[in-house]
Amino acid sequence: MKVKDMTVIAMMIAIIIMLGLIPPVPLGFIPVPIVFQNIGIMLAGIILGAKRGGFAVVLFLILVAIGMPLLSGGSGGISVFVGPTSGYLMGWLVSTFIIGYAKHLFIETKNPIFRCLIIWLPGVLFVDILGSIGLMIVTNMNVTTALISNLAFLPGDTLKVIFVVTIASRLLKLPLFSR
Ligand code: BTN
Repeated sequence: MKVKDMTVIAMMIAIIIMLGLIPPVPLGFIPVPIVFQNIGIMLAGIILGAKRGGFAVVLFLILVAIGMPLLSGGSGGISVFVGPTSGYLMGWLVSTFIIGYAKHLFIETKNPIFRCLIIWLPGVLFVDILGSIGLMIVTNMNVTTALISNLAFLPGDTLKVIFVVTIASRLLKLPLFSR
């Protein structure tokens, strides 16, 4: 791995960590808050691609697993991977690879709606479905309640996708991120 790759991976991990400093917004009816850290996860996939973006998110989750309080609200430790948000964390990992593998489609199309869909399908829909499955397993919530509760994330997460597409469309023009 080149120094340039290591630099951009470290930068992306720093961005994900900084987004975790924004306090989470509890929803009350579901043990999963609104967070801003998933912006960094989606950015990692689309800016760095599957290999480097996936590596950044794997490293970030390892830091969390070994106990660093890097998730929103300062949570961390191996217990979060068996807690109510575990499905979302798995979703973050897999969606980074899916978004990363779709990076060439994102670059090829100039259609902003299609660009949003490339991020939204894995980064929001897939993550929320995996998150719902995790919630059902961990909290015994039924499938309808889990899926309906997750609808609460869609407006905010869709705005996050628009933000990610706007930022990524600019950053991918820079030589540092263009491959
Ligand atoms: C954690 O910090 O333990 C993970 C939080 C996961 C929150 C999920 S990500 C998708 C959805 N959108 C949000 O804003 N919150 C949930």
